[in-house]
Amino acid sequence: MKKSSQLQIMASKEEKALSPKAAYSQNSLQVIPIILILMLVSSASTATAGQEAEALLNWKASLDNNKSLSLLPSWIGNSTCNWEGISCNNFGSIAQINLTSSGLRGTLHAFGFSSFPSLMSLNLSHNTIFGTIPLEIGFLKSLRTLDLTGNNINGSIPHEVGMLGNLTFLSLHDNKLSGNFPIEICMLSLLSVLDVGINNLTGSIPEEIGNLSSLTFLALGGNNFSGSIPSTIGNLTRLKVLYLMANQLSGSIPPEVGKLKFITNLGLVDNKLNGSLPSEMNNFTFLKQLWLSNNNFSGSIPQGICIGGVLEMFTAHNNQFTGLMPGSLRNCTSLVRLRLERNQLTANIAHEFGIYPKLTYVDLSYNRFYGELSENWGQCQNLQSLRLSNNRISGGVPRFEGSMQLHVLVLSSNNLTGTIPIELGGLTLMFNLNLGDNKLSGSVPVEIGMLTNLQHLNLAANDFSGPIPKQLDRCRELLNLNLSRNRFGGSIPPEMSSIDSLQVLDLSQNSLMSEITPQLGNFMKLEALNLSHNELSGSIPSTFDNMLSLTVVDMSYNHLEGPLPNNKAFHEASALAFANNTGLCGNATGLNVCPSETRGEKKSSKSVIFIVLLVLGILFFAFVVTGILCVVYYPREAQLNEDRFAVWSYDGRLQYEDIIEATEEFNSKYCVGVGGNASVYKAELPTGRIVAVKKLHMLQDRGVANLKAFESEVRALTEIRHRNILKLYGFCSHPQHPLLLYDFVEGGSLENILTDENHAVKFGWIERVNVVKDVANALSYMHNDCSPPIVHRDISSKNILLDLEYGAYVSDFGTAKLLNLETSNWTSFAGTFGYSAPELAYTMEVNEKCDVYSFGVVALEVIMGKHPGDLLSYFLSLSSTSTPEPIQLNDVLDKSLPPPGNHVVNKVITVANLAFACLRTNPQSRPTMQQITRELLF
Ligand SMILES: *[C@@H]1O[C@H](CO)[C@@H](O)[C@H](O)[C@H]1NC(C)=O
Ligand SMILES: *[C@@H]1O[C@H](CO)[C@@H](O)[C@H](O)[C@H]1NC(C)=O
Ligand SMILES: *[C@@H]1O[C@H](CO)[C@@H](O)[C@H](O)[C@H]1NC(C)=O
Ligand SMILES: *[C@@H]1O[C@H](CO)[C@@H](O)[C@H](O)[C@H]1NC(C)=O
Repeated sequence: MKKSSQLQIMASKEEKALSPKAAYSQNSLQVIPIILILMLVSSASTATAGQEAEALLNWKASLDNNKSLSLLPSWIGNSTCNWEGISCNNFGSIAQINLTSSGLRGTLHAFGFSSFPSLMSLNLSHNTIFGTIPLEIGFLKSLRTLDLTGNNINGSIPHEVGMLGNLTFLSLHDNKLSGNFPIEICMLSLLSVLDVGINNLTGSIPEEIGNLSSLTFLALGGNNFSGSIPSTIGNLTRLKVLYLMANQLSGSIPPEVGKLKFITNLGLVDNKLNGSLPSEMNNFTFLKQLWLSNNNFSGSIPQGICIGGVLEMFTAHNNQFTGLMPGSLRNCTSLVRLRLERNQLTANIAHEFGIYPKLTYVDLSYNRFYGELSENWGQCQNLQSLRLSNNRISGGVPRFEGSMQLHVLVLSSNNLTGTIPIELGGLTLMFNLNLGDNKLSGSVPVEIGMLTNLQHLNLAANDFSGPIPKQLDRCRELLNLNLSRNRFGGSIPPEMSSIDSLQVLDLSQNSLMSEITPQLGNFMKLEALNLSHNELSGSIPSTFDNMLSLTVVDMSYNHLEGPLPNNKAFHEASALAFANNTGLCGNATGLNVCPSETRGEKKSSKSVIFIVLLVLGILFFAFVVTGILCVVYYPREAQLNEDRFAVWSYDGRLQYEDIIEATEEFNSKYCVGVGGNASVYKAELPTGRIVAVKKLHMLQDRGVANLKAFESEVRALTEIRHRNILKLYGFCSHPQHPLLLYDFVEGGSLENILTDENHAVKFGWIERVNVVKDVANALSYMHNDCSPPIVHRDISSKNILLDLEYGAYVSDFGTAKLLNLETSNWTSFAGTFGYSAPELAYTMEVNEKCDVYSFGVVALEVIMGKHPGDLLSYFLSLSSTSTPEPIQLNDVLDKSLPPPGNHVVNKVITVANLAFACLRTNPQSRPTMQQITRELLF
């Protein structure tokens, strides 16, 4: 490195003219009939290599994306057989086109279908292809495989697909196709896989579907198909997988379904199906996964569902099933997951269940199971989650001695009696233990303190007595502790104050006595505290001033006196929170001002009374109005809750509960990162897909209308597909924990990789330049190719993720804005410290140029191996007229790597120059992302 490594701050260049978009002509549609006839006449002739090359180059030119130049760089000249994604047959004609996940963006209208008579396989899955499927698709006479999964294709499926008589594999999964299912597809007698799931198809499933006698896989889920399931489906006797979930199908299951004797996976969840299941379903000897939940099925569950002994997953929750458990389930040792909650099953739970070595998840809540729990549950070695709440189960709590994996045990709202077995203390993975609302008694065993992973403990509404065990202080992960409505006595143990993770503490309605220990003020994270209905006396310790997170308090019905602590929650609590005490005073509604504060000011206490009356009046009015609104709006709200997730997967609509289940209620063992406003969890969905779940901390209160706005914005973001933008699958607007669901990227964040020494060395110059390019491509796409443009607002090395090959994905696009949707103090949001543009200190307007600045910081960070810190201050200090000192490249490059070799040094210099240009103080003189991507096209 010699002179060339001296950098000058780049002068901003004139933006070059946009390369003309080779638009496809709308008129071409009208020309089709003529072309069609001409082509049919000449269809016997084989296309020459020249024709094929020309057709592909035309199509490439039509892809309206300034990136397509760098895309498919090998597509030049005539020798198509060597082009990326192309394979030829022995005669030199194109036989396969495989451009999956290639960042293609455009339509299929300029794809010269008639030029590829030998094409057998066309795989364009996971790109951004939009527009309709051209009718000329019918020309691909040799086609056996057509895979357009994961694009944005709209319009209806053309009948011409029915002309592809050799087709064995057809997937249009996850697009925006609408209209009816074309009957012509039912003529494709060789078709083995047919997947049109996750589109907007309507109408009924045609009877002719029964003609597809070679089908082994049929997926129609995630559409709007209505009507009933045609009985001809029974003719598909080779079918192994049948997915009809998440439609509007009604009626009952036709008995002919019983003829599908090879079926392994049957998914019918989220429809309006009713009636009882046909007894013919008793003969499915290969059945592995049966999903029936969220319908209106009634009658009993077929006895033979596990007759083949291979059933792994059975979900039938939210139906009207009655009667006993299916007999074959008793010894179904293959069972892994069982969800039957919210039915009307009536059975003696002591007899219906055996021992299941593989079972991990069971939910039988909200049924009518009775009888006692067997100790056999303790022999299910892999059991992680057992929920049996809201049944009529009696007897004692089993010891679960062999269930060492048990994390979640919910036995609430039953008729359990006796004491808590001390053996439960051995279940050290326990995370959520809920025995609330039973008839349990005695004192709580000290062994409870062995549950060091416990986050939720609910023993409320039982008959427990004795002291609160001080050993609870060892449960250092506890978030939520509810011991209310028991007969606990003595004082609140001061040791408890060391549970500094605690967020909710409810000790109400017990017989707790004496003064409140000042140590309780150590609960820095406590949000809700209920000590009401006890015998507590003395004053509230002034240490409570420190509980900054506290938002809800209830101290009513005690013998407390003296001043309230100087704490926001106390000041803002309603009068009810302090009612029926001996003599509390202070600056809060309904309380007398403390004597020392008010000496000689009668007037103000009068006005206090007036204000109190006024506030009470308003409160009363508010209650009445809310009451009315609740009655009027209740059904709508329920509907909204049902619709919480906008994610579709093979087993139907994902629900909040599925995420809860996959993360074992956000168990920290699944947590892969914690940021300022969210925690991220890695979750494996029932389908096997791995996703990143981003759980947002506390969202501002939002009305239903805002929630809708939030939903529609996120929905728009879910439709964005770019290979350098982390795919957002969906969201859940659960009021407590709003969730966003993303693709899971294995490598970790750019920040982590740069700070991890092992990685930083492997992360060479070429990889680093490519990461900068990827991030630029993502930003350029969002700024220029989206309408309206989407500004990220919070670009930093934290939210750029890298896969194992150092491919970069920008995450959290657009969500920064959504998270602040309702905050009026816009300026309080200024992105991540150290990355946000200087103008944000004085303007409220966040625009593309802010992203450009942050991009500059990240680009510099990538080549420096650390955040450019001081260098940024240096840039800020430059006035627009002064000539900057030249910066030695050597001074900034990451020292943990050998200096860049000849092949890459110029690229590194370009990146550095661009980064400096992005850091200009004046937003107008920063380049646009489009200019940057063009500079990076080396
Ligand atoms: C298309 O390519 C993707 C990615 O390589 C692959 O998963 C899929 O199976 C391919 N489709 C067909 C029909 O082979
Ligand atoms: C298809 O199913 C229908 C109704 O179930 C039946 O009448 C018909 O004979 C079947 N066709 C074939 C070819 O099996
Ligand atoms: C479900 O079926 C029951 C009868 O089994 C019926 O009373 C009820 O109205 C149905 N519910 C819906 C939503 O269709
Ligand atoms: C506190 O607990 C009592 C009794 O359990 C309950 O009635 C009251 O609503 C609770 N207070 C708050 C603010 O939740």
